Amino acid sequence: MDKIVVEGGYPLKGEVRISGAKNAALPILVSSLLTDGPCTYSNVPVLKDIESTKELLINHGARIETDQHTVTIDAGGLNNSEAPYDLVRKMRASILVLGPLVARLKKARVSLPGGCSIGARPINLHLKGLAALGAKVELIHGYVEASAAKLRGAEIFFDTVTVTGTENLMMAAVLAEGITLLRNAAREPEVTALADVLNKMGAKIEGIGTSVLKITGVPALKPVSVSIIPDRIETGTFMVSAALSGGDIKILDCEPTHLESVIHKLRLTGSEVKIDGNTMTVKGGDKITSIDIKTMPYPGFPTDMQAQFMVLLSVAKGFSVITETIFENRFIHVSELKRLGADIKVSGNTAMITGVPKLMGAPVMATDLRASASLILAGLAASGTTEVSRVYHLDRGYEAIEKKFASLGAKIKRVKA
Ligand code: EPU
Repeated sequence: MDKIVVEGGYPLKGEVRISGAKNAALPILVSSLLTDGPCTYSNVPVLKDIESTKELLINHGARIETDQHTVTIDAGGLNNSEAPYDLVRKMRASILVLGPLVARLKKARVSLPGGCSIGARPINLHLKGLAALGAKVELIHGYVEASAAKLRGAEIFFDTVTVTGTENLMMAAVLAEGITLLRNAAREPEVTALADVLNKMGAKIEGIGTSVLKITGVPALKPVSVSIIPDRIETGTFMVSAALSGGDIKILDCEPTHLESVIHKLRLTGSEVKIDGNTMTVKGGDKITSIDIKTMPYPGFPTDMQAQFMVLLSVAKGFSVITETIFENRFIHVSELKRLGADIKVSGNTAMITGVPKLMGAPVMATDLRASASLILAGLAASGTTEVSRVYHLDRGYEAIEKKFASLGAKIKRVKA
């Protein structure tokens, strides 16, 4: 398996362009299943998870053409309602096909995604919601089997804010008969982006960007051409890299309005963040100040930025507390950061971080996508060499990350297995 080797201690300087958002592209590509003609998406990031999604859609009968960052999907030939274990296990977000398949084919058989390293990640709310829309939903031999001659609008309350749960039910409800109300819906920019695409397809979704979505079902949707929004987590990762290295980075083609909580926290640590439309300039301060962070659903501080900020706070002056409220096991990077000399204690969902003057390079292992990014950041800040192994996690969600960092002056390379 490939490794990323980083030699730390160089301030990052220059310009970096942000790719399209993985977590917006995934549901949007899947939403093509709701239409009968060619949908064209631009600014699609080149990632493993996007490849897995395309494989899944082809399995369901879609025809796909890809030209670099443009993907055309024609689901006119949609004919297979089964998403097998081999495809779903590669990517949990595969569960997103459930809603569209039941809406279009009246039935679906989708492998249960199973747990993952950051938590149990149940899909009970996806299933309860689909049942509320009138589907018969059963769990048989590790598969979700759902069927409905006709989905009917219903009022659904999410006990927990769920991003893909909201997306799945939104995609089921747009073709249901009557009105669906999704209450306590997720408000993440990726959810909003999907809702905008569905409306462009002819859906009737009101309350976009709020926690109550009113969806009036329509008989059919039409194909669209859209561009994928910028990746706010990739943006945030580069922002932290500037702060950590005492660098000065101009981040192009980003959407600062999606990063208010991250910008706020970064400024509190002492970095300077300047916003000019879709460009942000981040300049690391003379010293890094300790802060407390609690992850929350959007617009709160994103769990997907928690690991990266933990690295920053590991070298801050003073004591910081991070509370993770979204996933029950999202501190797996802590033991790896300790190998680099970080002083972190974990108790339940709280991490207590005492800043150290310097991290020291060491071999580390990537455990999940955002943890992998945090280890690269740690390597960039550490003295000496850090080798990050198991980087396939990274390739699932960051496009050409080592090339982008290298263009900013980092001493970083990929060593092929
Ligand atoms: N939950 C339930 N029941 C459900 C669904 C969720 O209890 O039916 C719980 C989860 O266990 C978790 C919380 O609700 O404790 C929030 O989970 P959510 O469903 O919002 O997560 P997700 O939709 O599976 C998406 C992103 C994640 C991101 C989270 C939180 C995609 C493809 N994935 O996951 O992204 O961390 O929302 O913002 O959109 C990543 O990109 O690295 C990543 C993990």
